[in-house]
Amino acid sequence: MSRVVVTGRIPEAAIEKLRAEHDVDAWSGPESIGREELLRRVAGADAIVSLLTERVDAELLDAAGPQLKVVANVAVGYDNIDVSACTARGVVATNTPGVLTDATADIAFGLILMATRRLGEGERLIRSGEAWKWGMFFLLGSSLQGKTLGVVGMGGIGQATARRAKAFGMEIVYQSRSEIDPTITAELNARRVDLDELLAVSDVVSLHCPYGPATHHLIGAEQLAAMKSSAFLVNTARGPIVDEDALATALRDRTIAGAGLDVYEQEPRVHPGLLELDNVALLPHLGSATVETRTAMAMLAADNALAVLSGEQPPAPIA
Ligand code: GLV
Repeated sequence: MSRVVVTGRIPEAAIEKLRAEHDVDAWSGPESIGREELLRRVAGADAIVSLLTERVDAELLDAAGPQLKVVANVAVGYDNIDVSACTARGVVATNTPGVLTDATADIAFGLILMATRRLGEGERLIRSGEAWKWGMFFLLGSSLQGKTLGVVGMGGIGQATARRAKAFGMEIVYQSRSEIDPTITAELNARRVDLDELLAVSDVVSLHCPYGPATHHLIGAEQLAAMKSSAFLVNTARGPIVDEDALATALRDRTIAGAGLDVYEQEPRVHPGLLELDNVALLPHLGSATVETRTAMAMLAADNALAVLSGEQPPAPIA
């Protein structure tokens, strides 16, 4: 039996699966596990099943000890994990791609609709108790049909968002570091462009790239200035891909029309400049938050940990 430490609450089915084979120590407090408690608990762990709220760095790996074999992140994004520190210690790192693709694309599209059709504004107005009535010019938004979606990062979630956009009658352009299967881009009638062209032609820019040094503040003042003044920015990827200061300024000055955000630079803090504005829809990192998806993520993380513990190749190693 190996010792498996789970750093936060995850669906019971995954805990049971781990418990069938191993000794599981799962944090079940209502708050996130504190750093000190985490460092203490991981001592002697053979596997760590981590949530994206926990930083898995050299300090944590060393606190676990040299017997540690696997860090199984319950997320597709793994910017909370120092992958090279894992590699240097012979620890396999894994994530949960695929199972959250549709849920996250749904939230991206939800934000596109919230921002372009001013849904949050409408809801806030009703709840405020203020008088309102139907009017020809009341809370007018922007239509999506015939407009262009620019997908930054055309992996699974970017493609799934593009598929939804196509169903809404949008044209697709995308920017991607890697070649995308031509049958997929043909099906979506999607045209590959560089970021400059994408920013210039898109009516909605949706971010789906991973976060890392190469994408830190990928969208800053200069990129926002390159967007159409009628365009919207949507971020369901990671907060620090966008320079929030610059975004708050662009939204306040209306150099872009609006934005929809599910992620923030310093979660759970939201930039105060954004909170004041009506032309930004704000969600609390809900991309993968469905019962089905979170269960599938936890089960995949459990499968990843179990495979490594039994000396097998895990289903989703981080490349
Ligand atoms: C959620 O943000 C994830 O990366 O899975």
